[in-house]
Amino acid sequence: MGPMQKTIALVTGANKGIGKEIARQLLEAGQTVFIGSRDAERGKRAVAELGGDSRLLVLDVTDEQSIARAAAEVEALDILVNNAGIMTDGATGPEAQLDDFRRTYETNVFGVVAVTNAFLPALRRSSAPRIVNISSGTASLGASTDEDVRAAASGAPAMHSPGGITYRSSKAALNMITALYAQALPEFRVNALAPGIRATDLNDRARTLGQDPAEGAAGAVRLALLPEDGPTGAFFSFDGTSMPW
Ligand SMILES: NC(=O)c1ccc[n+]([C@@H]2O[C@H](COP(=O)([O-])OP(=O)(O)OC[C@H]3O[C@@H](n4cnc5c(N)ncnc54)[C@H](OP(=O)(O)O)[C@@H]3O)[C@@H](O)[C@H]2O)c1
Repeated sequence: MGPMQKTIALVTGANKGIGKEIARQLLEAGQTVFIGSRDAERGKRAVAELGGDSRLLVLDVTDEQSIARAAAEVEALDILVNNAGIMTDGATGPEAQLDDFRRTYETNVFGVVAVTNAFLPALRRSSAPRIVNISSGTASLGASTDEDVRAAASGAPAMHSPGGITYRSSKAALNMITALYAQALPEFRVNALAPGIRATDLNDRARTLGQDPAEGAAGAVRLALLPEDGPTGAFFSFDGTSMPW
């Protein structure tokens, strides 16, 4: 698949933030893009703003019926970007509430598996199926445990603190899910992306310290439009460099 070949993409949680930027860039590359949004009104506003060949797809990744209805609407799909994600708080293990773990995993882990499996029949009809899972650099076991990396990350406090356990462990699970889906689907390209800290509504740190979401989105679009001999089962930073698992 060449980057300019027309494909059909679905981006979950595309009504705002990084997801909306991924959708914008895929549209600019001439793709048809389903704008996944759990709220129809927010989704309609994004479609109106994005224009091009964007289409609303109401999809709550934690709701089985919503997923089934959405999957029934999409016959053919080339690219699935599992972008929808939440972060409940920055608690450490001893502070974290079990309900926050459950809520976070429902969206960031089980939501990805449920959506991916529901859209697999459509993806299998593609000649070049691609799955991009939006992970996080803060989920890297290597970066989170290596003392040198932790020391060097003084400008990125999340990497050298034990906080954010619900979110970071959910994205670490997503990384393993990425690696194993890639092995189970060798004809696909399945990769995870660390988009960098971006100015979005994800949390206060992102809102205040984050850089342009479009730069993180570009990393996802690169993985969405990988050529046939592109990598699979890998974890990349937004700039295309490898991330340690
Ligand atoms: N921002 C960062 O610094 C950063 C860094 C690393 C990774 N990420 C990851 O990037 C992805 C996008 O986050 P963001 O920063 O763009 O945050 P955001 O602005 O809060 O956007 C999150 C998106 O996910 C949607 N969403 C949440 N729960 C959903 C559900 N159950 N079903 C469907 N959609 C749902 C939201 O929809 P509503 O508008 O309806 O809430 C929204 O569209 C997430 O996976 C996040 O973990 C972000």
